[in-house]
Amino acid sequence: MSLAFTPLRIGPIEAAGRVFKTATAETRASEDGFVGDELVDVYDEWASGGTPLVITGNLYVAPSGKSTYRMCGVDADDKVAGLARLAEAVHRHGGKLVGQLNHCGPSTIRSRLRTCPSQRWARARARCAATRSAA
Ligand SMILES: Cc1cc2nc3c(=O)[nH]c(=O)nc-3n(C[C@H](O)[C@H](O)[C@H](O)COP(=O)(O)O)c2cc1C
Repeated sequence: MSLAFTPLRIGPIEAAGRVFKTATAETRASEDGFVGDELVDVYDEWASGGTPLVITGNLYVAPSGKSTYRMCGVDADDKVAGLARLAEAVHRHGGKLVGQLNHCGPSTIRSRLRTCPSQRWARARARCAATRSAA
């Protein structure tokens, strides 16, 4: 069997394989950094493909450390329930989830904190759903 499909222990985490989803800022949280259905769906989709370990996009630890728009936050207790939904979405498919904590500091590009005006993702998902239902 290929090494890529053998388990890997990382501290307390045992991943079933070694092909991971690396950290990619999803920009699918609410404007104030909460997890919602849109973000949960993305994680569910990644994990449903059998990805053994999913690393979140960078999660800001304080609003001053945001690096992009619609970034997910871990800066307040009332965000915990939503973050747990991400873990549940991945665990449901047997995967493990690692959170990447981040404070962008003085490198934050303020113009990037605006909402993406084109909402490309929403349109792409609608197209995907239409294609599936037509098949
Ligand atoms: C859209 C996008 C968002 C990314 N967001 C993050 C991030 O939040 N944190 C991080 O450490 N790296 C981030 N990255 C870097 C990726 O995790 C990865 O290191 C990079 O794409 C290089 O991997 P590759 O050589 O396999 O393409 C991002 C990359 C892309 C393309």
